[in-house]
Amino acid sequence: MAETRIGIIGGSGLYKMDALKNIEEVQVQTPFGAPSDALILGTLEDTRVAFLARHGRNHTLLPSELPFRANIYAMKQLGVEYLISASAVGSLKEEVKPLDMVVPDQFIDRTKNRVSTFFGEGIVAHIAFGDPICKNLAGVVAEAIAKLNLPDITVHRGGTYVCMEGPAFSTKAESNLYRSWGAKVIGMTNLPEAKLAREAEIAYATLALVTDYDCWHPDHDSVTVDMVIANLQRNAVNAQKVIQETVRRLSENPPSSDAHSALKFAILTNLDKAP
Ligand code: ADE
Repeated sequence: MAETRIGIIGGSGLYKMDALKNIEEVQVQTPFGAPSDALILGTLEDTRVAFLARHGRNHTLLPSELPFRANIYAMKQLGVEYLISASAVGSLKEEVKPLDMVVPDQFIDRTKNRVSTFFGEGIVAHIAFGDPICKNLAGVVAEAIAKLNLPDITVHRGGTYVCMEGPAFSTKAESNLYRSWGAKVIGMTNLPEAKLAREAEIAYATLALVTDYDCWHPDHDSVTVDMVIANLQRNAVNAQKVIQETVRRLSENPPSSDAHSALKFAILTNLDKAP
């Protein structure tokens, strides 16, 4: 099998990559069970990539039900070193409009029910997570968006993604609280992925696709699933173009990433003496 250094996780509305060629569907098994769906291996821009539909291709998994560890483990098993996560988000700022794209650089964790580590059960490690997104990979994603010059779409570099538990959307009080914290977008999935990817020494970046103004905006209806899907479908073609351009740039010039050596100073357990 050709090496697969680039992984793509597609969220709500992005269940496949139309431009993938020479497709091979792989059912991966991991110590953490099966991933959300089969991984789709294929070539994009002559580069081998692995695609995974985060919620399953028929959208059967809630954010709280996602097998995050299996998903990241499966990517690692395939040899993935760069992971691009495309995800629907709500906007917490006026200037971040539905259909815009955001490449966040920070997270706030509002999840409650997620296992976000591979460690424990005898092996103790604390990875550095001050910069949870790989800035070099995020830079490639942002440059890819800028290069495509998509009409009517603004790219916002940086900003904080609030990761909430769901599945219900936020209350207005919560949404306004996150706004008062200066957060830019809100979603339900990316923080556990980012933590596990870091532990797996995979560079991770989010391509956040804005679908709504959550529920805080006085001039816009509160978010509904219809709104998220309608806007994502409008943007899915653009998202795929961005991913394709990102893959082209990554394969030409793979950037260095601190994530690739994240475990160097993170493990406390004496592994020579561990059972
Ligand atoms: N995904 C898309 N829009 C969202 C919102 N407003 N809140 C949480 N997750 C979302």
